[in-house]
Amino acid sequence: MHRQRKNVFLIGFMGAGKSTVARELEGRYGMRLIEMDEQIEAQEKMSISEIFATHGEEYFRQLETDLLEGLKQEENTVVSCGGGVPMRACNVEAMRGSGRIVYLSASPETIYERVRHTHNRPLLENHMNVEYIRELLESRLPHYLAAADMTVNTDGRDVKDICDEILSAAKA
Ligand code: S3P
Repeated sequence: MHRQRKNVFLIGFMGAGKSTVARELEGRYGMRLIEMDEQIEAQEKMSISEIFATHGEEYFRQLETDLLEGLKQEENTVVSCGGGVPMRACNVEAMRGSGRIVYLSASPETIYERVRHTHNRPLLENHMNVEYIRELLESRLPHYLAAADMTVNTDGRDVKDICDEILSAAKA
């Protein structure tokens, strides 16, 4: 089995497939998995929606930054990042220092299909439509692309295929 020593940070919009790909990398390649949203929810004993409602978005963003800072010593870990993580330069710096940053891209239509029946993302809760997703994605895209060491498109693709692309690039 090929072991991935460096960490992999999966970035991308909500619904881009970060959690699915991260679980596959954990299961098939024995990487340790860190799901940022889940870790923050466990630490705060509240859902992401409750954190936003109780403390506001900035508080949540600081929790993300603190969590990433604490991951610098990790190895062989795949981190499924919250969709907003690359918006802060210090987060990108922290990720770059300990691993490779992989941007999972998806079209607004694909994203909408993947998230339309969910209610755990406060930023989309009252804007669950393709147009809003397209606008937010476009405004974030420069940050995603600037942060990424590689981009992998996920539209209509099998998760195993996506993992193979990520890991073969890692070996090169
Ligand atoms: C967010 C994405 C969410 C979560 C929070 C904010 C964002 O994570 O961190 O709702 O700003 O894009 P996922 O990308 O895992 O859905």
